[in-house]
Amino acid sequence: MSTPKKLFIKTYGCQMNVYDSERMGEALAGEGYVATDRAEHADLILLNTCHIREKAAEKVYSELGRFRPLKEANPNLKIGVAGCVAQAEGAEIIARQPMVDLVVGPQSYHRLPELEAKAQRGEKALDTDFPEEDKFEHLAKRPKAGRGPTAFLTVQEGCDKFCAFCVVPYTRGAEVSRPADRVVSEARDLVERGVREITLLGQNVNAYHGHDGGLAGLIHALADIDELKRIRFTTSHPNDMDDALIAAHGEVDKLMPYLHLPVQSGSDRILKAMNRKHTAEEYLRVLERIRAARPDILISGDFIVGFPGETDADFEDTMSLVGEVGYGQAYSFKYSSRPGTPAAERDEVAEDVKDARLQCLQALLGQQQRATQDAMVGRDVRVLFEKPGRLDGQMGGKSEYLHAVHVMGEGIQPGDLRDVRITETSSNSLAGELLSAG
Ligand code: SAH
Ligand code: SF4
Ligand code: F3S
Repeated sequence: MSTPKKLFIKTYGCQMNVYDSERMGEALAGEGYVATDRAEHADLILLNTCHIREKAAEKVYSELGRFRPLKEANPNLKIGVAGCVAQAEGAEIIARQPMVDLVVGPQSYHRLPELEAKAQRGEKALDTDFPEEDKFEHLAKRPKAGRGPTAFLTVQEGCDKFCAFCVVPYTRGAEVSRPADRVVSEARDLVERGVREITLLGQNVNAYHGHDGGLAGLIHALADIDELKRIRFTTSHPNDMDDALIAAHGEVDKLMPYLHLPVQSGSDRILKAMNRKHTAEEYLRVLERIRAARPDILISGDFIVGFPGETDADFEDTMSLVGEVGYGQAYSFKYSSRPGTPAAERDEVAEDVKDARLQCLQALLGQQQRATQDAMVGRDVRVLFEKPGRLDGQMGGKSEYLHAVHVMGEGIQPGDLRDVRITETSSNSLAGELLSAG
C-alpha cells in the first residue's frame, strides 16, 4: 500500500469556515489524504481564508510567504487557497503569489478532488463559480468515526442583505437554505458519532427557509432527536427574528438561552447609512420580546465603530444602546474599508478617532461581560463536558450560556451533562462543583 498523502488545513474567519474545513478534509479523504497538524509534513496545504476585514485578508499573503521554504524543500508540495479571499480575489492570488497551485471558492468545495488532480498534473486549478448544484449533496458523506460532543452544521449560506460595509454577499453569494430533511439526517449522523450539541450555522441563519416553519420549524424537528441535548444557532439578523423563533426560546428546552444578534451601531443615522434596514429602537424591541420568552437569555452582539460619517454623537448613541442592552458577550471592530462595497466609496473616519472609540466601547462591553460572568457565582448551571482541563482530574465544558466551566471530578466523560454550582469566576472561565450524579 502506498503511504497516504498528508493534508494540512489552516482555518481563518467565522465558524462556517471551521465547518467547511471539516467537509473539505472529508472530501479529500476520499482521494487518499489524511490530516496532519504540521505544515512541514504536508503534501497539500489549504488555507481556508476570510475577507471580512483588511487585516484578515492580508494575513493570507504573509502566511503564504511563510510556506515558501517548504515549497522549495519539497517541489511536490501543492498549496491551495480556499474560502472568502479565494472567492473575492480569484486568479489575482496566483498573480500575486505564483507558488499557489489551487484556488477554490466556498461554493465549489465539492469539486476539490478534480481541482487537486489538476494541480497534481502541474496545472493551476481555479474554481470560483457559484454552481447550480448543491455542494453539500456532492460532498462525501461524513465518515462514521467518533467525534467530540459539539459540532457545527451549516443550514443556510449566503446573504441578500447587502449591508454597505460587508463583503459576505459577494463572497458567499445569495441566500440558500438546505432542505430540512437533509439537515435532520446530517444531525442524526452526528449524534450517532457522539455529538450532543449542534450549532446551526448561516450567515443569516434566521432567514432559513428549508422548512415550512422556518428556523423555528427546523429547531422543533431537531429537538425530537433524543440523544441531541442542545441546539444553538448563529448568526441572526434582527429583521428575521420572527414570532415563531422568538416563541421557540420559551418552548424548546434544548434551545440554549444564548442569542448572538448583531446591531453594528446604536445610531439610526448610521444604521441607515449601513443599509441595516432597522432602527435602534426596533432592535431593542426584538430583544424585549426575546427576553419575555426567555428571561435568562444571554445576549451577544457585533459592533462596528468609525463607519464613514460616524460622528461623536452617533458613537454616543452606540454607547447608550449598549448601556441599555447589557451584553453578556460582544465582538467589536474598527470599520475596515472593503473593495467593491458601497461604503468603500465614502470618506473614512480618522484612524485615531476609530481607535479611541473602539477602546471606549470595548471598555464598556468588557465591564458588561465581566459582570455577567461574575454574576454566575452561586448559581447552578448545566454543563456539557467537552475535554479534560489543565489540572489533573479536572474536566471542562460549557454552560447553557456558553461560559467555559471547570470542575474537579473523577469519572466525567466528554459528552456528559451535569449540574454544577458555580463557586468562582476568573479571567475567562468559571469554576464549580458537581451537584448531580448524572
Ligand atoms: N452575517 C453576520 C456576520 C457578518 S461578519 C451578520 O450579519 O452579522 C461578522 C461581523 O464582522 C459583522 O457583524 C460586523 O460587525 C463585522 N464586519 C463585517 N464587515 C466589516 C467591515 N468592513 N469592517 C469592520 N467590521 C466588519
Ligand atoms: Fe454582512 Fe449584513 Fe449580510 Fe451580515 S447581514 S453577512 S453584516 S451583509
Ligand atoms: Fe470571513 Fe467569509 Fe466568514 S469573509 S467571516 S470567512 S463568511
